[in-house]
Amino acid sequence: MATLIFHNLTRWMVLVFGIWAVVNAITGLTSKRTFSKTDKLSGLLFMVFCDIQLLLGLVLIFTNGWLSKIQNGMGALMKNPTDRFFVVEHGFMMILAWILVHVGYTAVKKAPAEKKHKKMLVFFGIALLLIFISIPFAYKGNDIARPLFRWFN
Ligand code: HEM
Repeated sequence: MATLIFHNLTRWMVLVFGIWAVVNAITGLTSKRTFSKTDKLSGLLFMVFCDIQLLLGLVLIFTNGWLSKIQNGMGALMKNPTDRFFVVEHGFMMILAWILVHVGYTAVKKAPAEKKHKKMLVFFGIALLLIFISIPFAYKGNDIARPLFRWFN
């Protein structure tokens, strides 16, 4: 249960730092200011919290009953919209976003100064969008939707 609570709460850190990094990229591009330490820090924190979230998500797959559902066969799993969402859609989209964040962080690092904000916007912007649409918010429907906050009782 602790893993699920942390996976729920860390999502807000991913979103906050993701939005901060993308806002820095947009304001950097529009104002043409030089890439600062704050820009770099926002990208780093976004990446670190994505790493933590990926790790917690993988722990959930192995410890929260999802593995037995996978072992029962992907055919049956794909027929159940909730199981399909968490194991296939949520899992794969989040891993794709995580890859984009890592590739993007390296691309920003290697890019010449005048191209850093643009690279940051493209990679982190797409990753943040994928993360946002793959979170089980209320609009996903009753069976998939999860609480906005969980806490230790
Ligand atoms: C940035 C990446 C991610 C974000 C923002 C995120 C967010 C969330 C949120 C908000 C929930 C609902 C938690 C709750 O019920 O209170 C959830 C559930 C879940 N996530 Fe993620 N997640 C991410 C990555 C992953 C990855 C990479 C995996 C697996 C490879 C994963 C596997 C799961 C599973 C299995 C559940 C359902 C947990 C359960 O009810 O047993 N997540 N995720």
